[in-house]
Amino acid sequence: MVSETDFIANHYCTEIENGNFQWSAPSNIALVKYWGKKNNQIPANPSISFTLDHCKTITKLAFTKKEATENFSFELLFEGQPKEDFKPKIQKFLERIEVYCPYLKSFHLTIDTENTFPHSSGIASSASGMAALSMNIMSLEKVLNPEMTDDFFFQKASFLARLGSGSACRSVKGSVVVWGNHAEIDGSSDLFGVAFPDKIHENFNNYQDTILLVDKGEKQVSSTVGHDLMHNHPFAEQRFAQAHQNLSEIKNVLENGNLEEFIKIVESEALTLHAMMMTSLPYFILMKPNTLEIINTIWKFRNETKIPVCFTLDAGANVHVLYPENVRERVLQFIAAELVGYCQNGHYICDAIGTEAIKIL
Ligand code: PMV
Repeated sequence: MVSETDFIANHYCTEIENGNFQWSAPSNIALVKYWGKKNNQIPANPSISFTLDHCKTITKLAFTKKEATENFSFELLFEGQPKEDFKPKIQKFLERIEVYCPYLKSFHLTIDTENTFPHSSGIASSASGMAALSMNIMSLEKVLNPEMTDDFFFQKASFLARLGSGSACRSVKGSVVVWGNHAEIDGSSDLFGVAFPDKIHENFNNYQDTILLVDKGEKQVSSTVGHDLMHNHPFAEQRFAQAHQNLSEIKNVLENGNLEEFIKIVESEALTLHAMMMTSLPYFILMKPNTLEIINTIWKFRNETKIPVCFTLDAGANVHVLYPENVRERVLQFIAAELVGYCQNGHYICDAIGTEAIKIL
């Protein structure tokens, strides 16, 4: 079994003067949710997600050799402009990964990042952002240690991304990713995400995700605080056991293509995530009235048309509407006619299941 110490770089050469890379990494939407963690971003339960195709972060990393110093030396640009407010998060990330990437202080780093989705859309960029940065750091490590295998490259990229933001480790490989030890998923690990190992039914080919932007504001409660509230939560143990069970079930569904079962698991997971928030102490509610309007309207539409469309939620008010590609036209008409009115400024994003992170440069 792979352990944390396997990711400590100890064979590398820092005699390289400079270079640059660019990677794009996808956002992801969990079907079975991660909510609750142990020390060092170890998840309290396993989760599974679809990576997305359009919602991505694209990050460039330029490095120049310098004398190794006490502190990290880096600049951070967002869409080409210096962005001081993002720096503390990156500083913290570099500190966390330093033990695994001891070469980082031998270089000055320029990180230039942008998202394909609007900045204040309520879509978290931490998953795709931390994944894109981790891919670049691994490109640097590969230059310093060219012997590295591709498997190790992706595994360690996911491992590093996890240390930045838990769910980011599911934004390295595609299209369906499992993170967290699970008895029935070969190779699954608490340390990094792995591509779902079995054949996925064609019903899920190009599965659609239309993201309805209900509330684009900052969340009142960060996911870090939310995860923490699962310590001493009255339903925590039950919830963690349920996630294992739901992952076993969704594994079968992804193989056999049963959309009715898929809908049951996915919607129950979304509501359970929010139920955990509503039953923690302190309790909080991230759904908005329009989130509930959308859910009820989807249920009515599904009942009347038998079209297999369902919803899932992140830690926020926005709604992800999930459906197969063969009903796309009909569902988009429904969204335009009946759901757009519940979106802030009528905004929504049409996305679909995507691929792993991609090297651009
Ligand atoms: O990666 P974090 O710490 O932002 O947590 C994400 C948690 C959820 O999005 C609510 C669920 C998930 O599995 O992505």
